[in-house]
Amino acid sequence: MTDTNAEQSGPALSALLQERRQFAPPPELAAAANAQPGIYEEAAADPLAWWERQAEHLQWERPWDQVLQWDLPYAKWFVGGKLNASVNCVDRHVTAGNGDRVAFHWIGEPENDTRTITYAELQRMVCQAANALVELGVKAGDRVAIYMPMVPEAVVAMLACARLGAPHSVIFGGFSAEALASRILDADARVVITADGGYRRGTASALKPSVDLALEQCPDVRAVLVVRRTGQDVLWREERDHWWHELVERQPDTHQAEAFDAEQPLYIMYTSGTTAKPKGILHTTGGYLVHTSATHRLVFDVKPETDVFWTAADIGWVTGHSYIVYGPLANGVTSVMYEGTPDAGGQDRWWRIVEQYKVTILYTAPTTIRTLMKWGEELPAAHDLSSLRLLGSVGEPINPEAWMWYRTNIGRDRCPIVDTWWQTETGGILISPLPGITATKPGAAMRPLPGISADVVDNEGASVANGEGGYLVITAPWPGMLRGIWGDPERYQDTYWSRFAGSYFAGDGAKRDDDGDLWLLGRVDDVMNVSGHRISTAEIEHALVGHPRVAEAAVVGASDPTTGQAVVAFVTVKGEIAGEDGEALVAELREHVATTISPIAKPRQILLTPDLPKTRSGKIMRRLLRDVAEHRDLGDVTTLLDSSVVQMIDDKMRTAPGGAGDE
Ligand code: WTA
Repeated sequence: MTDTNAEQSGPALSALLQERRQFAPPPELAAAANAQPGIYEEAAADPLAWWERQAEHLQWERPWDQVLQWDLPYAKWFVGGKLNASVNCVDRHVTAGNGDRVAFHWIGEPENDTRTITYAELQRMVCQAANALVELGVKAGDRVAIYMPMVPEAVVAMLACARLGAPHSVIFGGFSAEALASRILDADARVVITADGGYRRGTASALKPSVDLALEQCPDVRAVLVVRRTGQDVLWREERDHWWHELVERQPDTHQAEAFDAEQPLYIMYTSGTTAKPKGILHTTGGYLVHTSATHRLVFDVKPETDVFWTAADIGWVTGHSYIVYGPLANGVTSVMYEGTPDAGGQDRWWRIVEQYKVTILYTAPTTIRTLMKWGEELPAAHDLSSLRLLGSVGEPINPEAWMWYRTNIGRDRCPIVDTWWQTETGGILISPLPGITATKPGAAMRPLPGISADVVDNEGASVANGEGGYLVITAPWPGMLRGIWGDPERYQDTYWSRFAGSYFAGDGAKRDDDGDLWLLGRVDDVMNVSGHRISTAEIEHALVGHPRVAEAAVVGASDPTTGQAVVAFVTVKGEIAGEDGEALVAELREHVATTISPIAKPRQILLTPDLPKTRSGKIMRRLLRDVAEHRDLGDVTTLLDSSVVQMIDDKMRTAPGGAGDE
């Protein structure tokens, strides 16, 4: 396990640990917190009864007969129960008299482009969209692909699908046409919801052309619903394309929702695994909604009457699904939803938003915190951030320096930080401190939430002692867990349930410190974490060898001070290359990756090399390449077929442009 945050942050981390810096929960918070002392013991005494009590916060059309049916590795939660996710997220708050409460303060990237949407308005929008989908022939069980910018219609589209029992598959707007096509095909979606474009980094970027291109490969898609966001020109196919403002807005704004089985598929979210083919992670309705609403209520300690909650993530990822859409809406909370990048309109954009909307809870990724750090503490210092009372982190290990900066400069030493560990597969948070209850340490996710059983084990599956590291496993089913990989039960079993008998293998390394608290250390497989985005080394290698000039490619994630990890590729080419030509080819290959997958997968650096280091059995030595990419001493390379190859690559690397700190 070389992929450790502990190693990355080296001396700084050990200094902090030596100081044993630990923050007790503020006493005033403990009194008012949603989580009450004794919650851990209560849940541990009877986890199923505890989850059952969480489920009672939702509105069920029919109660469940059984909390859990566990047929390893297949779980059914709240068996026999019936509910509608959209009704739980919207209608019931209106019925309860909270229709005037703001659901979203939406903030577009261009200055002064804002919308305020109350729960009553959201209900009308969702009903209209559901009626429109019915007109397009969408029925329960049909898959709908959503490829949208961060506009309210994206949330409305998701909830409209949920209302009809039609699983959505949201594909991040940064994905290329090719990536979009493969996901639409895998899910066999027949309807696509998109927009002409969106605003990103100050310019209008286009989405519809990618859909048009993707659909050349997807003949079964019969309808495309298009939101007009930017007003840019789009190609139009009369028989297939429909404007949202025409089709949706002429629909009746009421819709009688049907209750679905708790295990009705809610959505498929594609994520990267260790092979080139992304996995369609399947989530169902009842357990997922219980999990996201309960964790949102407890971990973020939300008070629906007073909080303004802001998850600064994209709805194209699971964080957006669980903590922009389903968790906060199920709890009837007011959220901020921001379309753009943190520096659009100035590097203090976020702090202006916090000040203006009086944001009380901010949830973001370490990579963004590190970027904000680089921009300097003067920016947040110039704004009134006194509304903030709680801060969250997600998506990658948070290094203690970033944690302390977040606490000091954003939380002004008042706000607890919740470092939340979870995955697309887990549906919601599994490991995190609870504000008001759990002490926090800079860089530690601390302990499994009530109702969750996790362990750190060695190679043989035995629990490690305090002070030791190993593999993170989840030892009992949880309501938000994935129900499978779409169309690939074998891969589901192999990936998650084969490594350690009876336990869920997360793919992450973890350490239990001397107090028994948990530190997450990063992936232990071939999945990289770049700026909080999960990217597979195999997927990029596959893209690279798809280029006519590439013979072989090896991709590694090298540690990077800002993005956590960065993509570094080693490529051997077909034919000869001359000096100048090499640079042009590297540029072309980086672009090639961006257009086959996404700009987020673009290698930071590509090294053209005549050969790749291999073992005697012909396997590419990735670990060694990572040492090279991170400029580490190589140690013993005698198992290599030709150790001069690696020496040569290492020399090249040390003199090559585009390395760490070379941005
Ligand atoms: C990593 C994002 C350390 C981890 C919600 C996991 C974390 C992967 C943390 C899932 C955290 C997420 N500390 N690492 N607090 N949160 N990770 O599916 O490696 O995009 O396996 O879900 O992110 O990424 P995914």
